[in-house]
This record gives sequence, structure tokens and C-alpha cells, in this order.
Amino acid sequence: MDGGISNPAGTAERLAQMLAALPDLARDALVDPVPPRNLNDWSALPPETPAALFCPRSAEQVAAILAAANAARVPVVPQGGLTGLCGGARPIAGGIALSLEKMTGIEEIDEASATMTVLAGTPLELIQRAAAERGLFFSLDLGARGSCAIGGNAGTNAGGNRVIRYGMMRDLVLGAEVVLPDGTIVNALSKLIKNNTGYDVRQLFIGSEGTLGVITRLVLKLHPAPGCTHAAICGLSDYDKVVDLLRGARRKLGPTLSAFEAMWPDYWEVACAVPGVRDPLEARHAHTVLIEAQGTDEAIDGPRFMAFLEAMFEEGIIEDAAISQSLSDVQAFWGVRDACAEFKTTLGPHHAYDVGLPTGQMDGFARACRAAVAEAVPGGRSVYYGHIGDGNLHLLAWVPGAAPQPGEALDEAVYATVRAFGGSVSAEHGIGTTKKKYLEFSRSPEELDLMRRVKRALDPNGILNPGKVIDA
Ligand code: LAC
Ligand code: ZN
Repeated sequence: MDGGISNPAGTAERLAQMLAALPDLARDALVDPVPPRNLNDWSALPPETPAALFCPRSAEQVAAILAAANAARVPVVPQGGLTGLCGGARPIAGGIALSLEKMTGIEEIDEASATMTVLAGTPLELIQRAAAERGLFFSLDLGARGSCAIGGNAGTNAGGNRVIRYGMMRDLVLGAEVVLPDGTIVNALSKLIKNNTGYDVRQLFIGSEGTLGVITRLVLKLHPAPGCTHAAICGLSDYDKVVDLLRGARRKLGPTLSAFEAMWPDYWEVACAVPGVRDPLEARHAHTVLIEAQGTDEAIDGPRFMAFLEAMFEEGIIEDAAISQSLSDVQAFWGVRDACAEFKTTLGPHHAYDVGLPTGQMDGFARACRAAVAEAVPGGRSVYYGHIGDGNLHLLAWVPGAAPQPGEALDEAVYATVRAFGGSVSAEHGIGTTKKKYLEFSRSPEELDLMRRVKRALDPNGILNPGKVIDA
């Protein structure tokens, strides 16, 4: 690429040129010194210091910063809550970081349309609470809810715990405001569910990981707040029964089924070892599943949930179950599933994966991958869990006590197994830099070429998050 954007030589001059051309309206967005939190995301990569950090307060400031960076060919890394696991928001040496952390706030809740308009830096948990206060529900939920920002959730097409019922971010965003690398502010803030008016602009940016534009505002789709919530932790004797249970839950709970989280015994063991996590079951089982159902009416949905569990016992599908009696039980059950957020402390450094596979093949994959990890690196361990109803298996792989972790050997072992099973190298976390090398395992050459054409069309100078997802 001309301009040598990937060549650090000359970056100081380009930054000086950018700062000199920056209009007054964007000057107070410059934050100096750069706080440590902006040096990295939650990936296992080492921190990187950006040449400068901007924390704009408006789309106009974002536009001015991007236009100046584009003119001077300075790379820009957009940042949200920095909870991504693939390096997508990690700064680039010589480039600027553009954090949306000061663009927070809920601009409107439209109860008739069941929509919420928010600024992109707003934390997910704040959005969930604001919806609940109005008797509404924003369905996206994931372990990093307190730290992640909605713009990053959209930029990475976040999935999480309730995709089985409500879908991923792609299904939850009705409109977006996006700033292009040349500073154009694109207003696509539609509230409409049905809007067949040509190309879908918002979807171009959802899941693009900040490589095509910077999302500054979103119109989110809300649902009614659930009238009641039931959950059970079920113990099962083998994976075929897990698949039977999923089929039974879909059939008997219908649209109330809101989560189906499977945990392999190796995961269950390390999760229950996290301080404060209580095992709701008395005995250990080959597989454990957390099922949640959100209903509208306790008098109808409570008995429906019990009838479903009784049928699963009678059909010999489940061996044991702990059933929630209250919302605090529901939360305690989620504690075992959310325990993975604490693994950084309890397991030490590890690599996290989010592979996509057909539901029926997940146990075969887990066996093959466990063996591949153990063979690839002496002492290599891996644990398995996931949103199996969405075809999304998680695994963590690490070598206890190793510093640094043999990340590349672990990646090779995992992704070679994914390729052998015809799976996706990312079901929900995205590509960033950590999976870029493996993108071709899951996409055809024609798809990759089309992605490059889109990138070149929207970001001809290659300033937005260069080196992430795919090289143009
Ligand atoms: C989870 C995150 C890691 O499901 O995607 O726990
Ligand atoms: Zn997940």
C-alpha cells in the first residue's frame, strides 16, 4: 500500500501532520497520558501503547478525527469496553486509539416501537437496567456485561447467553449511525423492522470489528420483560442425552426456552473450584446443562417447566436436576456458567476459543481436540462448554504453569481440529488479529476476495484497524 501505513518509519511525522490539521472542535478529545486500560483488550496478547488516544464526545468529533487521520494516513483503532478476546481493539504501534468511552447515554426509549437509541460507548449492563426499569428487556447478555460497550457488541456481532431465543447483535440492531474513514457521518438510524430499501447499511458494520467505520449510535430492538424465569441444572450420563434434552426443551418449552448451556465435566470441575461458586448438584455427571425458560405468566409457565423436566426424567434423558425456586436460584445457577470470567485468576493465563460446529458433532470434536492439545504441547489441558443450541462450542486451552503459554501450538492444534470437522474458527468472538491466520479455514477464497473489495471500497487508505480481520 502506498503511504506505508504499516511501516512505522514516518509515523511520528504523520501524527504531527494529523494533529496540526485537526479542527478546534476535536482538540479536547485528545487524552494524554494514555491510561493503562487503553493499551489492551482481554486477549492474551501483550499491551501496546498507541501514539495518541482520542476520547471524543460526539459523532462530529469522531468525524473530524477520522478525516484528519485519513488525510495524514494515520492508523486508527476504535475501542469500546475493551473486553474483546481476539485483539480487535488492541492499539497498533504508531497509530491512534479512538475510544468511545465518553460517548455514553440512552437518548430515547420508544415504548411503542420497543426500541432504545443509545450512544455507542454505553455499557451493556446499563442498557439492560434501563430497559428493565420500563418493563422492557434488552436480550443481549454475556459475562462481560458490566464492562463491555454496546458499540463493541455491535462491532463484533456479540452473541452470548440468550441467542437461542433472541439472536445475536445482528438481530438486535435496527439502526446505526456510523462514521466512515473519510469523516462522512452516515445516518442509518431506522427504527423499522421491515425496511427493504436496498442494501442493508447497518449490517455492513455489524461484525466488521471496526475495520469499515466507527459506530457512534445504535437503535436497539427491545422485548417485553419476562413475566417469570425458571432454570434448572441437569446432570446427564452422555452427550447423546444432551442432544435429546435440547430437542425435548425445544419441543416442550417452545419459544420460552431462553438458554441452553452445556458444560463438559472438565469445565464443571474447574468452574466449581472457583471461590464462591456452589455446585447445585449432589453428584458429578458426565454432562451438565443449564436450561432457562422465560415465560409470561407464572401460573402457566411454572407448571409447563416442571412438566418438561418430569418428562425428561421419565424418558430417561436426565439423571438429576436442581430446579430454581426463586430468581436468586436462577442467578446462582448462572454463577457456575459465568465462573469462566474468573478463570484468569484461578487457572492462570489461558487461550479462549469460540468455535462453530453442528450441535451433533460437538462431543466428537471435544474428544479429538482434547487429544490434539495434549499431543501438541506437553501438559496441554483443555476444557469444553458452550451455547450448543446455537452451534457454538467454547474451549479453553493452556499449559498449567507455563510462561509464556505456547499460544501458537495451542492455536494450531485447535484450528486444525476445527478444519477437520468443517467448523467455524469463530462463532461469536470475531477474528481480530488472533484468528486472522485461520480465517481461510472457514471462508472460501471468493468470500475472502469479496471482503477485501468491501474493505477497499470503504477504507481506500486502509487507516481503520489495519491488520485486523483481513488484509486488503
Ligand atoms: C462465554 C464467552 C466467553 O460464553 O463467550 O462465556
Ligand atoms: Zn460465549
